[in-house]
Amino acid sequence: MKIETLPTAGDVARRGASVFEAHVLARPDLVVALPTGRTPIDMYEILAALRRSGGFDLSRATAFNLDEVLLPRAMPQTFFQFMTRYAWEPLGIAPGRRFIPDGETGDPESECRKYEDAIAKAGGLDLAILGIGADGHIAYNLPGQAGPRTHVVRLDPITIATLGGDLQPPLGAITMGIETIRSAKSIVLLATGPSKAEALRRMRDEPVGEAWPCTFLRDHLDLTVIADEAAASQL
Ligand code: PGA
Repeated sequence: MKIETLPTAGDVARRGASVFEAHVLARPDLVVALPTGRTPIDMYEILAALRRSGGFDLSRATAFNLDEVLLPRAMPQTFFQFMTRYAWEPLGIAPGRRFIPDGETGDPESECRKYEDAIAKAGGLDLAILGIGADGHIAYNLPGQAGPRTHVVRLDPITIATLGGDLQPPLGAITMGIETIRSAKSIVLLATGPSKAEALRRMRDEPVGEAWPCTFLRDHLDLTVIADEAAASQL
């Protein structure tokens, strides 16, 4: 794994945006896995500004969300709402090429299989852009709940609290699996702030296993971690 350390979170956002842009220039019809969370927001805003100035075009790309919570789509905590606001609309991703697991489904297991089929039908992932949880989770492959392919997880109270609002357990989610993510030709992981420092250290040093799901990515052939100095402080 390649680690790029940059001074600030703003630098991480700019670098993430320029790596993303380079992939899109090389392959305008790329298939990309996209994250929600605080970390990618600045990157999305940079790319949206670039798009407004005519320098970035995702209209031929296909985007698959990494995960979705099992809540009604109209609720502000859903990733459907997040992506509409920060990524799909501002980046101009065509409505027919925005994929996210259906968080309203009555049959989450079959939704997982459908999601895997949709990724395969799109030709597989060219690029996955990821965040990382302070506990080392990747998408919603939480400690002890990592799985190879798209699957259902139970969110723990700390993860639920990060969603905001007044959500209470039990709350489930659908997440791409570790092998789904690892099948991407290139992976870019963004990490900012001191709360991610332990997870990055474990990602590099811990024996590969479920306790720190980020370790499963370590031997991917094209994995770049872009971290600010705070997140890289234990490396
Ligand atoms: P964050 O979430 O960007 O809000 O820190 C990261 C993640 O859970 O993957």
